Amino acid sequence: MSDTPTKAADSSVTYSQYLALDELLAAQKPRSDRHDELLFVIIHQTKELWLKQIIAEVKLAKSLIRAGDVEPAYKALARVSRIQTIMTLSWDVLATMTPADYLSFRGELGTSSGFQSHQFRELEYLLGLKDGAFLSFHAERPEILAELKDALAAPSLYDDALAQLPRHGLALPPEVLERDLSQPYVPSAAVEDAWLAVYRNTAKYWELYQLAEKLVDLDDALLTWRHKHVLTVERIIGRKRGTGGTEGVGYLQKTLERRCFPELWSLRTRL
Ligand code: HEM
Repeated sequence: MSDTPTKAADSSVTYSQYLALDELLAAQKPRSDRHDELLFVIIHQTKELWLKQIIAEVKLAKSLIRAGDVEPAYKALARVSRIQTIMTLSWDVLATMTPADYLSFRGELGTSSGFQSHQFRELEYLLGLKDGAFLSFHAERPEILAELKDALAAPSLYDDALAQLPRHGLALPPEVLERDLSQPYVPSAAVEDAWLAVYRNTAKYWELYQLAEKLVDLDDALLTWRHKHVLTVERIIGRKRGTGGTEGVGYLQKTLERRCFPELWSLRTRL
């Protein structure tokens, strides 16, 4: 913090208090004496901090879009994309850890896995990737489970964006607008037609067009992050099974098929 101090400023607030640095810097607890484990912990912790910020931005963007304030939401969505860029770059830092370095402490992780990151799953639900099967990983933590259930049942960012289409004269059928929101989203021909109209007449639908491209930025960046995860995992553990119990690289490769905003991709073929 480099703000010039003013007379009115409270001198009892220090840098370390304001940032809770004692707690923050005491929160890295490697379980082995291996040098690389600290990096492994810090990479995961920074990812959780960035996820916290991303979730706050997505929630802000959702409420703005729902209120019809689409343009102010662009700022929050642009910030998410920039954070995603940093998260993707951090794979290169992790990749300085060799397979031997990782194997020397991997046993300490037990069955813990990024798979159990509740913030990652909440983000997926907020964006519209609804899969209730992941709830079971949080059965032991009732507060977290309740938050995830709320996010699963609530309209996603995509639902909020879709609700804007009829406001601009682009009707959507009830099976889209009134569906069970806790179920995985099924791509719809009517939604694709509506977005196609937006992309064919960008001048008329400029606000929606900008929103759609911001959403594609997010989806693109999430897939890029996932792709680097798969590559880094293969580079470090090859085809070994994951600590969370999946087949490993094979599972992660399947996650590359997840699209938050499917019609915004499929419409491009028809343009
Ligand atoms: C040596 C490094 C890493 C390895 C070998 C690894 C491996 C894996 C594997 C195999 C899975 C699938 C679930 C399982 O069976 O465990 C997984 C899931 C996951 N990992 Fe990693 N990972 C590594 C580092 C990271 C890092 C640094 C992050 C975040 C910064 C991360 C975040 C995640 C997330 C969010 C999932 C869930 C993905 C989904 O279900 O779509 N992982 N990881």
